[in-house]
Amino acid sequence: MQTIRFGILGAGAIAGRWMKDAHTLRGARVTCVASRNEAKARAFADAWGIPKAVGSYEDLVASLDVDVVYVATPHPLHRQHALLAMRAGKHVLCEKPAALNQRELRDMLACAQANGVFFMEAMWTRFFPGTLRVKELLAQGAIGRLCAVQAQFSFRAAYDPANRLFAPGLGGGALLDVGCYPISYAVDMFGAAPASVAGVAHIGPTGVDEQNAISLRFPGGGVASLVSGLAADMPVVAALYGEEGCLTVPDFYHPERVLLTRAGHTETVFDQPYEQEGFAFEVEHAADCVRQGLAESPRMPHSHSLAVMAAMDALRARWGLVYPTEDGHA
Ligand SMILES: NC(=O)c1ccc[n+]([C@@H]2O[C@H](COP(=O)([O-])OP(=O)(O)OC[C@H]3O[C@@H](n4cnc5c(N)ncnc54)[C@H](OP(=O)(O)O)[C@@H]3O)[C@@H](O)[C@H]2O)c1
Repeated sequence: MQTIRFGILGAGAIAGRWMKDAHTLRGARVTCVASRNEAKARAFADAWGIPKAVGSYEDLVASLDVDVVYVATPHPLHRQHALLAMRAGKHVLCEKPAALNQRELRDMLACAQANGVFFMEAMWTRFFPGTLRVKELLAQGAIGRLCAVQAQFSFRAAYDPANRLFAPGLGGGALLDVGCYPISYAVDMFGAAPASVAGVAHIGPTGVDEQNAISLRFPGGGVASLVSGLAADMPVVAALYGEEGCLTVPDFYHPERVLLTRAGHTETVFDQPYEQEGFAFEVEHAADCVRQGLAESPRMPHSHSLAVMAAMDALRARWGLVYPTEDGHA
């Protein structure tokens, strides 16, 4: 099997968590890390046993020993960094949310097509065996026709206007940071883009949403009720209600367990702890797609990234939440 070589763009928080899975990768390895600061890149490479460290993102995308660039910078920079990599002929695995808005994402997809490279949003939830088991149970009719999804992802973040979670210039706000998970989950489970989108948000002192509640309606009549926030710790959980039962998925964004309730009886139908953080599933999938010469992932297709982005654009338009780099237009 051809080993696919990944290069990390941005040696920050998520890149460090991602590397915890690097030693378990099959058919993929990390060959280079780039930071805007060479000493930082070198320290990151030494800490994680990465053979090469470079002091600019330009040097990373020019590296001959990199096939796929993993874009691990804050969301307002995803477009710029993905374009840099794809114009240099590199495939791209781009952290969630794929971009700030649909317009940016369309630019990125056009660039991927023009350069004949693979592009995937790193929505890691999709690749966990627990998520795949839920999809399988739905397809097998375990709960009958899916009617409703409820999901929430909220945690208490220490207020700091300079932190990327709160800073508008760094794409702050609950919706883009964690709200994309329940939206993407509902899109995955219903297998379609929402037909209508509504929602309310509390906008905090920095001008970004600190809490929100979202309602989606899907073609065929399914609905979703979703919450995301930076204000309070909540159990991160999804529940899928069908005509004949319910599936409950604790920690749905990186699940280890799935429970099935039918006729008042609940049983655990999936219980599989994974190693480390669980990023290996998405990385190995992206490597498989690249090996097969695919332009997009069948499991995390471009259309789903666009559907999630369109829903988030519609919500932000209602809330009047525009980021500084959007020039007044989401
Ligand atoms: N999948 C998940 O579970 C998960 C979890 C957390 C975050 N994320 C996503 O990953 C992305 C990065 O999040 P993070 O928490 O890792 O962010 P972070 O630590 O604040 O920043 C990541 C890196 O981006 C680079 N960067 C380049 N230009 C920058 C600028 N102008 N300001 C700040 N940083 C800049 C820096 O790397 P250098 O200094 O090395 O150049 C920085 O260390 C976000 O889009 C987020 O949504 C995903």
